[in-house]
Amino acid sequence: MLTNSFTGETAELIIDGKGYRLPIIMGTEGERAIDIRLLRAQSGYVTLDSGYMNTGSCLSEITYLDGEKGILQYRGYSVEDLAEQCSFVEVAYLLVNGSLPTRDELKNFSHMLGKYALLHEDMVHFFDRFPPNAPPMSILSSMVNSLCTFYPEMVNNPLEKIDKMTARLISKVRTVAAFSYKKSMGHPLVYPRHDLSYCANFLNMMFDSPVNPYEVREEVVRALNKLLILHGDHEQNCSTSTVRLVGSARVNLYASISAGISALWGPMHGGANQAVVEMLEEIYLNGGDYKRYIERAKDSKDPFRLSGFGHRVYKTFDPRSKIIKQVCDEMLNALKLSDPLLDIAKEIERVVLKDEYFIERHLYPNVDFYSGIIYRAIGIPKNMYTVMFALGRLPGWIAHWKEMWDDPNWRIGRPRQIYTGPKLRPFVPIDQRSSA
Ligand code: SDX
Repeated sequence: MLTNSFTGETAELIIDGKGYRLPIIMGTEGERAIDIRLLRAQSGYVTLDSGYMNTGSCLSEITYLDGEKGILQYRGYSVEDLAEQCSFVEVAYLLVNGSLPTRDELKNFSHMLGKYALLHEDMVHFFDRFPPNAPPMSILSSMVNSLCTFYPEMVNNPLEKIDKMTARLISKVRTVAAFSYKKSMGHPLVYPRHDLSYCANFLNMMFDSPVNPYEVREEVVRALNKLLILHGDHEQNCSTSTVRLVGSARVNLYASISAGISALWGPMHGGANQAVVEMLEEIYLNGGDYKRYIERAKDSKDPFRLSGFGHRVYKTFDPRSKIIKQVCDEMLNALKLSDPLLDIAKEIERVVLKDEYFIERHLYPNVDFYSGIIYRAIGIPKNMYTVMFALGRLPGWIAHWKEMWDDPNWRIGRPRQIYTGPKLRPFVPIDQRSSA
């Protein structure tokens, strides 16, 4: 139940000499908003806010972030604590259910993840029909949507079975990701195992093979757990807002999540982790002259932007990027690996953080700047980096879909607009028309 947050105060809007009083609401951490839900009914006016830079779409109890202070909390716990102390499965449970699991709850949730790890064998055959170079995010979105065809019972009374749907999705999306990789390589599928943890299972399904057994390294499992935790949720970002908007039409969870996967694919959003590594590779292959790329990013006439930098909300360090940079160092040291791309990335960060252009615009490394380098060291191909982002973000998407579905104030999402097209004009029969 989302509590009302009215403060009793109001804001006064004066339009054409008439005053309109609008309630002020306040969140747990003191965020304040003007509640404009009655604005159009009272004044006939709507607001315009392209990109929703200033517009809150809902009340939510899931994630709190402060872009000025670089704070990120899931259900009141700091991501720093969660990344250090928890497994991804624990945090997935926290995001969806609102509290950290007891040992028994965690054991039961892990058991359900194991139970639902297999794909229906008919679904496995879908992979045979995708072209070999099919983008993994397209496969992921299609496969998640097709879950509705295999589990139609989840469509009719979703909240009764939300626990089963949650476990089914979180487990099967991991299997789909690994199977899509094996299929793209032309290698035999490696099925999930009951004796492995969530992340260890994923790594084994990705890299084990009948001729070359894969050794699951604890350092890699720990790094992957932290990465997935740090991607767990991020309040009303583009893909989460997509899941909420699609779900607000009472669309089932699987199809709503499939829409979120498509939104995350964009290079301005979750696709940035792949764009970062492609940018670093290009710099490396062109002799390492990263300063030329920084100058290009500053040139308003050049569409090039420094992938992995900047954020709609964070106007200081993205707290996730600090942890991911540390995870990167730790894992590469543990595996006795070095990566020239990491050296270039650190140089870019060092130079950019002292550059007026970036300082003035509050552009800092975001969650995507270092994550791709970790995936690269693990051996995950570039075109699967955003799939990894989706694996991490899935519990957050589910939590928001469930919160929206549960919300007594739920309304179908339907923004307004301001029309700027032609005024009413007489119809013109086709033979009297001239090309514009
Ligand atoms: C994610 O919303 C979330 O929470 C997203 C996310 C999550 O967890 O869900 O955090 C994940 O999507 C992280 C962001 C990944 N994207 C990138 O790294 C792509 C590169 N970054 C940008 O394109 C940009 O910073 C955005 C898209 C992230 C934010 O864009 P905004 O908020 O619309 O900012 P803007 O485009 O208005 O930029 C403001 C100024 C502009 O300059 P001026 O016109 O004022 O002169 O900053 C400049 C921009 O040109 N700018 C950049 C830049 N990002 C912004 N200049 C160079 N390089 C960049 N990366």
